[in-house]
Amino acid sequence: MAEPTFTPRVFSGIQPSGGLTLGNYLGALKRFVDMQNDGTHECVFCVVDLHAITVWQDPAALTAQTREAAAAFLAAGIDPEHSILFNQSQVPEHAELGWLFNCVARMGWMRRMTQWKEKAGKNSEEASLGLFGYPALMAADILAYHATHVPVGEDQKQHLELTRDIATKFNHDFGRDFFPITEPVIGGPAARVMSLRDGTKKMSKSDPSDMSRINLSDDADMIAQKFRKARTDPEPLPETYEGLKDRPEARNLVDIYAAMTGQTTEQVMSEHAGAGWGQFKPALAEVAVETMAPITGEMNRLMADPGEIDRLLSRGAERARAIAAPIVKETRAIMGMVG
Ligand code: TYM
Repeated sequence: MAEPTFTPRVFSGIQPSGGLTLGNYLGALKRFVDMQNDGTHECVFCVVDLHAITVWQDPAALTAQTREAAAAFLAAGIDPEHSILFNQSQVPEHAELGWLFNCVARMGWMRRMTQWKEKAGKNSEEASLGLFGYPALMAADILAYHATHVPVGEDQKQHLELTRDIATKFNHDFGRDFFPITEPVIGGPAARVMSLRDGTKKMSKSDPSDMSRINLSDDADMIAQKFRKARTDPEPLPETYEGLKDRPEARNLVDIYAAMTGQTTEQVMSEHAGAGWGQFKPALAEVAVETMAPITGEMNRLMADPGEIDRLLSRGAERARAIAAPIVKETRAIMGMVG
C-alpha cells in the first residue's frame, strides 16, 4: 500500500502555568515564528490550559496567564490571520482524543517519562491522574491535526517519542496508516536554555530563584542586572566552542547570545575569543534588551485589551476545530464507535 501523504503541518503548545521565560522564547516562540514565516507549513499554535491544570492553578491566575501566553505568541510575531492560535480547552476534540489515547497508551510508557518522575517526585500517590496521563493528551494535541512537525525545546523530546509510539500502536492495532509519525523539530543553540545560576539545570518558570531566569515581563534594567549577576567561571572565552565543553555556565551564555543574534556558536566564539566576562556580559545584556524590549512592550500593549485577546482565541478555536473535528470523528469510526 502506498504511504499516505499528510499536509505539512506544524503544531506546538505552551502551558499557561506562570510567566514565560527566555527559554520559552528562544527554544519555542522564536522558532515558531521562523516556521510560520518560511511558509512551508500550515501552523497551529495552542495555549495548553488543560495541561496546566494537571497541577493546581488558581482560576483567576489561569485566566490571566492564558491571556499573557497568547499575548506572548502575538508579540513574538505569530500572525493570527495566517497561523491558527487558540487555547486548548475551547476545542473539545483535544480532551476527547486524549481519552481515546489513554486507552492506547500503556501504564509502563507513562511511568518511564522523566517529566512525570520529576514533577510527581516522591509524592506520586498525591499527584493528579491528569499529570500521569499528560503525555497522552499531548499526543492528542498533535495528532488531532495530523501534524507532521512539532518544534519544541529539548525537554519535550521524550514526550514526542511517546506521541510517535501512540500513533504507531494505533495504526498497527487498527490496521490503518491513519496517524502520521510526527517529526520533532529540536535544535539550534537554544534547544536547552539553562538557568543563570546553575548551568546544569534548565531555565524554568518554576525555579524558586527569580535570578535564575529572564522573564518575558522583565524590564531592561532587570535583564541587564540578571546577566551581570549570572554565574560564570573566572576564565575568559576560549578560541572555539569546543573549549566550553566543561564550562556549562559559560556555554549557556554563548548559546543565548548565538540564538538571539542568529549567529552560529562558532561565529560568536571567533568574534569574542579572549573576551573576559566584564566585556561579554554587557554585550549579551545589550543584545538581550534589544531583542526582548519590543516584545515585552507589545505584550503589555496587548494585555491592556483582554477582550481582544479573547476574541482572537475564540476565532482561532473555530478554525482549529474545523481541522480537528473530522479527524477525531474518523478516529472514533475506526475504533468502531457508532454515530
Ligand atoms: P512548556 O510550557 O513547559 O514549554 C513551552 C515550550 O518552551 C520550551 N522550553 C524551553 N526551550 C529551551 N530551553 C528552556 N529552558 C525551555 N523551557 C521551555 C519547551 O520545550 C516547549 O517547547 N508539554 C509542553 C506543552 C505542550 C506541547 C503540546 C508542546 C502540550 N501539548 C504539543 C508541543 C506539542 C510543555 O509543557 O511546554
